[in-house]
Amino acid sequence: MSATLHQELSPQQTLTENAPAKINLYLHVTGKRADGYHLLDSLVVFAGAGDRLHYTPGPTPLRLKLAGRFGPTLGADAAGADNLVMKATAAVQAACGPNAVVQGGILVLDKELPVASGIGGGSADAAAALRLLNRAWRADLPHATLLRIAETLGADVPVCLASQTARMEGIGEQLSTAAPVPECGMVLVNCGVGVSTPDVFRTRQGAFHPRADLPAQWATLQNFISLLQAQTNSLEEPACKVCPAVQQVLTELEALPEVLLARMSGSGATCFALFPTVQAARHAAARLAQTQPEWWVWGGEIVGCKQ
Ligand code: C5P
Repeated sequence: MSATLHQELSPQQTLTENAPAKINLYLHVTGKRADGYHLLDSLVVFAGAGDRLHYTPGPTPLRLKLAGRFGPTLGADAAGADNLVMKATAAVQAACGPNAVVQGGILVLDKELPVASGIGGGSADAAAALRLLNRAWRADLPHATLLRIAETLGADVPVCLASQTARMEGIGEQLSTAAPVPECGMVLVNCGVGVSTPDVFRTRQGAFHPRADLPAQWATLQNFISLLQAQTNSLEEPACKVCPAVQQVLTELEALPEVLLARMSGSGATCFALFPTVQAARHAAARLAQTQPEWWVWGGEIVGCKQ
């Protein structure tokens, strides 16, 4: 890094990246690989809710501080080298090569999404770290390099890199563009129980689900919802066994006025519901937050909806 660039990135300058929540509108487990990883087919969107990652350059070795509503849930140990954000950071440093002058400083992770909850919090944070440090350090790593690093960090990290509506296949690394979803609102609910992804995959039984047949464009919201209703989340049933509160969350979501669809995301325990408008979703979220004050409840928009 040149002296000029060093001066440009002064300690006062803080850069921020959003790490939006990833929602699996449907998730079919279509098979299993010899190494135990499962093959998936999933339509993924991103919500207006998310964590945020801030970076302030400085002379001290790079360290991570956890903040936000769920920062304390992770505990002090979680800010160490095993944190996906720090692993992402180390991977960008390694990819920069031996001659790159990499800055230290402080990363602050505002953890606003519940932890281990099926909406990709940790993966979104890792993807945000890749984007943020590639930008801050002017590393100029091409997207393909970042994607390769993302794959080594976790199955959901590649889709979180672009944080755009996408179809996810393979174990998560095969991404293809998907039509933007029709404008609608979304509610997210988490009952506060962290669910282990490997436990849910291990509990899954029965036949694999087929790959979904998706149209190139969504004609109407109605058409979109009907197609989603014909799909499922293969992990919902095993997640309800691992964490029975998921069923209660789904029952509450299904009872909300104007709800179009209620389903679990990823391996749980977070569930989502779709509504005809963002306003209807916000109203429903406010109502649920009152009746279930211990739950994390969010209502708002899906990123990149078709207007
Ligand atoms: O890749 P990630 O760390 O998110 O995955 C956590 C665990 O979830 C894996 O170790 C594996 O047990 C399970 N998993 C799977 N198939 C996938 C993704 C995750 O079996 N496609």
